[in-house]
Order: sequence, then structure tokens, then C-alpha cells
Amino acid sequence: MTNSAKISINGKDIEAPVKSGSIGPDVVDIRKLYAQTGAFTFDPGFMSTASCESAITYIDGDEGVLLHRGYPIGQLAEESSFLEVCYLLLNDELPTKDEFSKFTHTITRHTMLHEQLATFYRGFRRDAHPMAVMCGVVGALSAFYHDSTDITDPEQRKIASHRLIAKMPTIAAMAYKYSVGQPFVYPDNRLSYAGNFLKMTFGVPAEEYVVNPAIEKAMDRIFILHADHEQNASTSTVRLAGSSGANPFACIAAGIACLWGPAHGGANEAALNMLREIGHPDRIPEYIARAKDKNDPFRLMGFGHRVYKNYDPRATVMQQTLREVFDALKINDPVFEVAIQLEQMALNDPYFIEKKLFPNVDFYSGVILSAIGFPTEMFTVLFALARTVGWVAQWNEMISDPEQKIGRPRQLYTGPVQRDYVPISQR
Ligand code: CMC
Repeated sequence: MTNSAKISINGKDIEAPVKSGSIGPDVVDIRKLYAQTGAFTFDPGFMSTASCESAITYIDGDEGVLLHRGYPIGQLAEESSFLEVCYLLLNDELPTKDEFSKFTHTITRHTMLHEQLATFYRGFRRDAHPMAVMCGVVGALSAFYHDSTDITDPEQRKIASHRLIAKMPTIAAMAYKYSVGQPFVYPDNRLSYAGNFLKMTFGVPAEEYVVNPAIEKAMDRIFILHADHEQNASTSTVRLAGSSGANPFACIAAGIACLWGPAHGGANEAALNMLREIGHPDRIPEYIARAKDKNDPFRLMGFGHRVYKNYDPRATVMQQTLREVFDALKINDPVFEVAIQLEQMALNDPYFIEKKLFPNVDFYSGVILSAIGFPTEMFTVLFALARTVGWVAQWNEMISDPEQKIGRPRQLYTGPVQRDYVPISQR
């Protein structure tokens, strides 16, 4: 017998089918609820709503598990590479050697931007936030690459996906170069994905740029850790935009706009600022006390998560990466000691234990990115660069789904009921 949920509402009793995934909570399929009962469900923050079916990423927040196509994030970060993870997210399975070399070749050959886009950058003010530039330039890609905007053609969808993944480091590095007034550095296809990005960001035409292998590895790992995170706000934005049939470049630009918000992509900057403000381990108790004080709005930035009620598995890898970067660059920054000790104190504090507040991916990432040399405005840009593959994979999955419909939520209306228009002379 198939599982079902009994719902009684408006004097009607219906049985809604209950569907099970391969793992994770069951879902009550309420698609026919309105037709059968005249009632909607109400879940504004999607606290109990699965917005789609997906086979890409799985999160168990209670256990602190993150899987891409079944593979644990820790194993991917340790043993795989960002481009291999991209292939996995786009294609269900890990690539064979041959498949991977073809994929790497394709991505590498798409790294250059249409030259006219360089002119497009010059339309922005020098002090524009690089995320504003990212929204504009990525949205504008649809004006430059018409031949990959027919979303009904799987081949064009594939080309658009490859273009986006390949060009995003070039676009991000150019946004940075423009903001510091340095010349754009063209991609160097002899380098790895991460190495190329580092060169385009920190290299200058006047000098040879030598990629530091430890930083290249750290960068690649940071990209892996941000590659996808199931139906978060920006991914849901991309899906919603794409559900209307909008072209992929416009959809990814929508995702970037959503990611920009401080509650989503901007928390690593806040965590770094907090650690710098604390400045010395002696001051940690004062900040922990503030975080626990109901009358103080201060929160420990980089702690807590809507889904993870356990250690965010990405934070574990970030902590290790932080050590590697500091060792490679011989950095002796007190912020590292503050972060380690703050984490330990919070993890042993009854308030954080009871509320299940653990470090999230943002706790350490800002410190690492700053050590590598990125200004804080670039942190969210790096997140967008890495998340592009997740957005693209989720967008492709949605478009390929035969049951796909335009996303069109309903509402609980609380405004005035119908009334007659009053001419302005009588108001
Ligand atoms: N420091 C102190 N107390 C906290 C914190 C924190 N960082 N986070 C949550 N709490 C408390 C909160 O005061 C509340 O207490 P009470 O039940 O007594 O009112 C309880 O824990 C639950 O918090 P919530 O805000 O209802 O939980 P949420 O799931 O809506 O919020 C969160 C999750 C990430 C917004 C929140 O934990 C937070 O503000 N953390 C700091 C910002 C941060 O690190 N954000 C990065 C998120 S991960 C990156 C991403 O997904 O983009």
C-alpha cells in the first residue's frame, strides 16, 4: 500500500500521496490540494516545503552530511578537483579519464570573453561593487552568445553551461582588475582552473606570474566547497527565473543578485570583521557573553545554520585549508588563534550546545581569502564563481524535467476586500 497523508479541511477529507526520496525526509505531495479542497498551504520561508525533486545534492543537517551525487564533500575536497566536481554535478557520474580530459579541454577553450565585453566593463564606475559588475556582465552574456540561448535544445544548454563555468573566473578577475585600475589579464590556458583565476586576478602584464601551488590547491578546494548546496536562496532564484523559459545567462545573473545579500553570500566578510574586532583570545569571553545576551543584537558570525544543526562539513575542510594557507604564506596573524579558540569555547558552551550552533562554511573562509590577498568585496564574487556550476546543474535538471512548470506560488491575501474607486476630488 502506498503511503499517504490524510488531510481534513473545509469539510473535505482527502488523501495526499507521500513520496520518498532515496534518503531524507518523506514529502507530502499536495499538488492537488487546492483543486480538491480550495485551500493553499502557507510556508513563506520554505521551512517545510520541498520546492522540487532533485538528484544532485543531499544535505542531512542533523548529522552534518553533504553529498554531491552521493559522494561526501570531505572526500571530494580531499581527493577530487573543482573541474571533476563540476563534471559530476553536471553529469550524474564521476568522469572516466577520457571524459575528464575532454571536459577539461572544453572548459579551458571557453575561458576568453568576447573582446567587446571589456568595453562594457568601462561603463561601470571604478568604485562599483564587484557584485554589481558581476550581475551586469553575466546578464549581458546573453547579448553576446545568442547561439546558446535556445533552452529547448540540450546541446545549446550544454554549451551555455560550459561557457558560464569557463568564463566566470575571467569575468570575476576582470571585475577585480577594473576596481583597482589595473589592466585586464587574459586567460592562460596552460594553467589549471584555479591557477588561471589567480593569475588573472593577481598577475600584471609587466611581470611573470608564478602560481603558488599551495594557494592554487587551497583555491580549488574553496571552489569545491562552494560548488552546490541544494535548494538555497540563490539556487531557488535561478530555478524560478529559469522556470519561465528565461535564457541561462539571465538566470545565473538572477542567482548572483540573490547571493549578494548578507544573509546568504555575505556572511564570511562579517565573520572576518568580527574576528579582527575581537583581536586577541583574551577578549573572546566578552564576545561569547554578548552573543548569548538576549538584549544584544550581536551574533557570532560564521556560527549557526538554517539546515546544519551539527558541524558544517565544509567548515572542517576550511579549517584545515586555513592552516595550509597560513603555513604556505608564512602568515602569523592573531586572527587565526582567535578563530580556533573562539570555536573551541563556543563548542563547549551550553548556550551553543543547546541551540545546536556550530561553525558554518563562512567562519574560516573570509580569513583564508583575506590571507590569499582578496579584498572583502571579492568574497561574494568568489562564492558566485564557484556556485555557478551548482546553479547551472540545477537549472539543467529543471529544464530537462518533463513535469517542469513555471514556478508560481500563491499567497494568503490580507489586503482590503473589493471596494469602489473614489474620485480624487472626493477623497
Ligand atoms: N550567535 C548567537 N546566537 C545565535 C546565532 C549566532 N550566530 N545563530 C542563531 N542563534 C540563536 C538565535 O538567537 C536563536 O535563539 P532563540 O531561539 O533563543 O531566539 C536561535 O539560535 C535560532 O536562531 P534563528 O535565527 O532562529 O535560526 P535560523 O535558522 O533562522 O538562522 C542563521 C540561521 C545562519 C541566519 C543564524 O544562525 C545566524 O544569523 N548566524 C550568523 C550569520 C551566519 O553565519 N550566516 C551564514 C550562514 S551559512 C552561509 C549561507 O548559507 O549562505
